[in-house]
Amino acid sequence: MKEKYTQVIAHRGSKGTRPENTLASFQEAINAGADGIETDVHLSADRQLIIMHDEKVNRTTDGTGLILEKTLAEIKELDAGYKFGSEYRGTKVPTLEEVVDLLIENDFHGVFNLELKTNKIAYIGIEELVTEQLSNRRLPFKIIYSSFNSESIKKMHELNPDSEYAKLFKTGIKRVMLLKKGHLIQGIHPDIKWVKRHKLLLPHILIRPWTVNTEADMAFCFKHKLAGLITDYPKRAIELRKDI
Ligand code: G3P
Ligand code: CA
Repeated sequence: MKEKYTQVIAHRGSKGTRPENTLASFQEAINAGADGIETDVHLSADRQLIIMHDEKVNRTTDGTGLILEKTLAEIKELDAGYKFGSEYRGTKVPTLEEVVDLLIENDFHGVFNLELKTNKIAYIGIEELVTEQLSNRRLPFKIIYSSFNSESIKKMHELNPDSEYAKLFKTGIKRVMLLKKGHLIQGIHPDIKWVKRHKLLLPHILIRPWTVNTEADMAFCFKHKLAGLITDYPKRAIELRKDI
């Protein structure tokens, strides 16, 4: 079923205006009035749920190496802000728990889109750990789990059959639609380039493309009344939606 209007989902928080996947970025997205927040979760060496996009800490922090080979204490020593701007020096890498705390503190009633980053590294047991952490709390927001990895979606679905799911993909929809046929997903999160190239607007599935950053792409999503769009610039998208 389609939502009333295209939901604006903030990619890694407000990635375009704050250091991605940090509490500052999520707070900015909430302040902008985003309908949803997208983020990515990994596992550390001591099996803590870590919020970051890449498998390695190199691009966004002052450290090097894999998250999987670091403890939470080592990850907490990293600076996840200064590469974005000197004013963000000292910004920490958050855990999933800290992000959820922030959303609860802000009484966030939107969508929390948690991407299980299991497509490059098989984080054994991450689905169970996420389930344990999120099912033990009273959450004011709705969760949509997504992943490029179908096996992760299947596993998560077994653990949480009542949650909502979406499959991420860049090309090729056939295998994705098998998940839909098997009632494992309600939505698809394709690359916006794929949506525009194929002009495929399926009425029976919720479509939320990424990464929708230009005004033309945002307008495309609004015009076709897609369920959502995932953007680095939630504030800009919300402003544009008012004018359409
Ligand atoms: O969830 C949409 C988008 O985040 C998927 O791609 O690489 O930015 O995690 P990526
Ligand atoms: Ca993501």
